[in-house]
Amino acid sequence: MKILVTGGTGYIGSHTSVELLNSGYEVVIIDNLSNSDASVSDRIGRITGKTPPLYIGDVLDEALLDQIFSEHKIDAAIHFAALKSVPVSMADPLLYYHNNVTGTLSLCRAMKKHGVKNIVFSSSATVYGISDDRPIGEDAPLSPKNVYGNTKLMMETVFSDLYHSDPEWNVTLLRYFNPIGAHESGLIGEVPEGIPGNLMPYITQVAAGLRPHLNITGTDYDTPDGTGVRDYIHVVDLARGHIKALQNLSGLGIYNLGTGRGYSVREIVNAFEEATGIKIACEEAPRRPGDLACYFADASKANAMLGWRTEKTLHEMCADSWRFAKGYYK
Ligand code: NAD
Ligand code: WQD
Repeated sequence: MKILVTGGTGYIGSHTSVELLNSGYEVVIIDNLSNSDASVSDRIGRITGKTPPLYIGDVLDEALLDQIFSEHKIDAAIHFAALKSVPVSMADPLLYYHNNVTGTLSLCRAMKKHGVKNIVFSSSATVYGISDDRPIGEDAPLSPKNVYGNTKLMMETVFSDLYHSDPEWNVTLLRYFNPIGAHESGLIGEVPEGIPGNLMPYITQVAAGLRPHLNITGTDYDTPDGTGVRDYIHVVDLARGHIKALQNLSGLGIYNLGTGRGYSVREIVNAFEEATGIKIACEEAPRRPGDLACYFADASKANAMLGWRTEKTLHEMCADSWRFAKGYYK
C-alpha cells in the first residue's frame, strides 16, 4: 500500500514515515519545509534503508497534488501538514485558517478527484473544552480555547461532513496529547523554531547551554507538587498509533492517543536529569494564561478498538529527546 504523508518531514510525520516503511508500506511525502528540512527524507532513508520521494511544495497547491496523485497510486493519506503554534495562531489567525483549513480542503478535493477516500488526520487534545475533569474521553465536550485549536476542530468537521456525505470515505481522527521523545537513532526529532514554547524542547535547549534556565510556568496549581500535569507520549508510540489506525480504517473513527497517565513539570525535569545526568536550572514563573492544572487521556478506546498501546517509558522519552537534541545543537 502506498501512503501520501503530508508534512512528512516534520516531527511526527517523519517518525510515522519511518514506522510505515518499517511495516512494509510505501511512502510519498509532500512538505513545504516551512518547519522542517529536506535532509529529513534522507535521514528516514538512513534509518529504514528506503528514502521516500519528497515533493517540496504546499498542500494548498492543488496542481501539485494533482500531479502527485497522477504519478502515484495512492491508497490513503495521513495529513500532518499544519502550523501548530498557539501564540502565533492568536496573532495571525488568517495565516492559520488559510494554511490549516484551506490546505485541508485542497487535499480533500484532490483526494476526491482521484478517488482516494482513506484518510488519517492529526488532530489534537486541544479540541476539547478541557476542564479539569479527567481523564478525557473522546465524548468530552469540544470547545477549543485558541485559534490553532479552532482550526483543528474545523478540520475535524470537514472530514466528518465528508464521511457523512459519502460513506465510502474512511476517516480516522487521532487526537494527540503531548508528544515528546525522538527516534532512538538520534537522526530525527523535534526542531523548534525560535524560542521553544513547549516544555521538552525548552529543557533540551537549557541542557545544551542555549538558555540559562527553565521557567516553570505555574507552581501553585492544585496538583501534588504545584506544577502542571500533562500526558506525555513518546513520538514513536504515537507514530505506531498511525499504523494501527491505517490497519483499522473503517467509517468514521475518533481516538485519543496518549498514555493515560500524567506527569508534572517537576517530574519531567527530574526524569530528564536522571536519564541524561545533566542538571536543569529552574526558576519559578507565573502561570501561562489559559493553562490548565492537569489533564490526560482516556486512551482505552484506542487500546480496545485499534489494539494499540504505548510501550515507551518516561526515561526513554527523556533520553531519546536528548540524544537527538545533543546531535542537533552540537
Ligand atoms: P511539524 O511542524 O514538525 O510538522 C508539520 C510539517 O508540515 C512541517 O514539516 C511543515 O513544514 C509542514 N507544513 C505545514 N504547512 C504546510 C503546507 N501548507 N503544505 C505543506 N507542508 C506544510 O509539527 P508536528 O509536531 O510534526 O505536528 C504534525 C501534526 O500534528 C500537525 O497537524 C499538528 O497540528 C499536529 N499535532 C501536533 C502536536 C505536537 O505537540 N507536536 C500535538 C497535537 C497535534
Ligand atoms: C506542558 C507543561 C506548562 C513550557 C501544547 C499545545 C497543545 C499541543 C501540545 C498541538 C505545562 C509547562 C511549558 C515552559 C513550563 N499542541 N511549561 N515551562 O501547553 O500542554 O500543550 O502542546 O496540538 O495544543 O497547547 O504543552 O509543552 O507547552 O506545556 O513550565 O517553558 O509545561 O505550563 O504545564 P501544552 P507544553
